Amino acid sequence: MRIFVAKDYHDLSLEAAKVVADEIVQKPGIVLGLATGATPLAMYRELIRMHREEGLDFSQVITFNLDEYIGLPPANINSYRYYMFHNFFRHINIKLKNTHLPNAMAVDVDEACQEYEQQIAGVGGIDLQVLGIGQNGHIGFNEPGVDFALGTHRAQLDEATIADNARFFASRSDVPRYAISLGIKSIMQAKKILLLASGNSKARAIYELVHGAVSNATPATFLKLHHDVQLILDEPAAMHISRA
Ligand code: PGA
Repeated sequence: MRIFVAKDYHDLSLEAAKVVADEIVQKPGIVLGLATGATPLAMYRELIRMHREEGLDFSQVITFNLDEYIGLPPANINSYRYYMFHNFFRHINIKLKNTHLPNAMAVDVDEACQEYEQQIAGVGGIDLQVLGIGQNGHIGFNEPGVDFALGTHRAQLDEATIADNARFFASRSDVPRYAISLGIKSIMQAKKILLLASGNSKARAIYELVHGAVSNATPATFLKLHHDVQLILDEPAAMHISRA
């Protein structure tokens, strides 16, 4: 696991965008796994700037998002489809048909999960998976206690995650209780992983990821078993890890 500690959120975002952009330049038809949440927002802004000012080309890029809330239609401002379109896709030259999120409005959720896995496999798998991390150590909606052998599945949000994500909703009771999420197994199949963490609220989970044992009590610790993981942290998120 390679670890880069940036001085603050701004620098973390520039560094993350540089990693993603370098991969796109090397492989213009790259398959990117993308994440939502507060953490990658400035990385997306920097990638948009690189597109506008430096001609970074997304015309052949294919994306798959990590997760989507069950029951939120794409037009809902809290759906991840809405987030991706407004914060990223509409500002770059990606083809919308090449952007994928789990179909959280599907009548048959299990079928939608299987289809998503098949779509990913159909383009040869994810080349670079961008991840955030929850305060409770979740990645995607793989919450503490998750079965690590699961692929894309219907996930129940942990109470801690509902509390965390309530900041984006009018009230806590509006936060959906279920999502479709890539599983640990699916995330582990990505060829490279880039995990971003900012702020001292993430320091405990980062400590567990770097120094703890592999355990589904902190789902991100499964990344210790992956051969190509890079962490980009800011100083507060890195405060508990040994930097020798
Ligand atoms: P955040 O969420 O970027 O909004 O902190 C990260 C996550 O829960 O995975």
